[in-house]
Amino acid sequence: MNILVIGSGGREHAIIRSLKKSARVDKIYCAPGNGGISMDAECYPVSATDIEGMCALAKKLSPDLVFVAPDDPLALGMVDAMEANGFRAFGPSKSAARIEASKVFSKNLMKKYDIPTAEYETFTSASEAAAYIESKNEFPIVIKADGLALGKGVIIAQDLDEAKSAISSIMEDKIFGQSGSSIVVEQFLTGPEVSVLSFTDGKTVCPMVSSMDHKPAYDGNKGPNTGGMGTISPNPHYSDEIAQRCMDEIFLPTIKAMAAEGAPFKGCLYFGLMITKDGPKVIEYNCRFGDPETQVVLPRLKTDFVDIIDAIIDE
Ligand code: AMP
Ligand code: GLY
Repeated sequence: MNILVIGSGGREHAIIRSLKKSARVDKIYCAPGNGGISMDAECYPVSATDIEGMCALAKKLSPDLVFVAPDDPLALGMVDAMEANGFRAFGPSKSAARIEASKVFSKNLMKKYDIPTAEYETFTSASEAAAYIESKNEFPIVIKADGLALGKGVIIAQDLDEAKSAISSIMEDKIFGQSGSSIVVEQFLTGPEVSVLSFTDGKTVCPMVSSMDHKPAYDGNKGPNTGGMGTISPNPHYSDEIAQRCMDEIFLPTIKAMAAEGAPFKGCLYFGLMITKDGPKVIEYNCRFGDPETQVVLPRLKTDFVDIIDAIIDE
């Protein structure tokens, strides 16, 4: 098989190296790729979010599989576009990618299907959000932009002033662009965080080994959240008992919920979890392999990666 991988980070490089271990793989292309990736794949300078350009490249290369790795092209419907052009593509549809692309969508999904997560309210008005936080008067409080924000769209406010300035920078100054037209205000949870990447064909779910990424910038964790700066696997906080609870209370219910909403999720679904004193809760979903978690999880995969991808696409 020849495979086209879309993306350009360490995650995509790890994906390509895993694909290369398969005896079924002949040639790997990557767009746009990077200098390191060019040692393992033939790179083409097409932007990951350029759907038209990427479909034109696919027509030129005729890959047997297109692997869409980053969140932005998934949220824009890259998989739907590739399928419409007759290509086999790995990744969720635009509709299923909403589980990451809209926090309002994912929080409402969890509420509707009783999946444990932090209590929350959603707002489209800055003044209503501020009034709610003032009346609730519980700090810290967590404020999240609705849309994609490179993993930085979450602000933990320690008091009312910080909360007000967070709301105004997200909703009025639009520091995360259109991502901040709606916000989620949610309860601050504490406990160790666990990342679980899982394979799912929309009906069954098969978790990979656990991992943990490190998010805050600067020494002593004093900086703002990043998308992730370092990672380890397995996660020392993820016991067999917690794993079973996650399967029963979170993983399977989420897969069933997406199917029930008419948006079955096919691909890699990332569960960002916090192990609270009341049990595991969902902090976020990602509609893709995590970065940098993939770099420590995929090298541990023993099954042929291409066989898994085929099983997912063919359900
Ligand atoms: P997210 O992008 O939703 O994963 O949030 C980024 C990071 O913000 C998480 O990994 C947590 O460290 C922190 N965070 C998000 N939501 C909460 C919450 N409700 N309580 C405490 N920390 C949170
Ligand atoms: N490391 C978390 C993410 O991929 O967004």
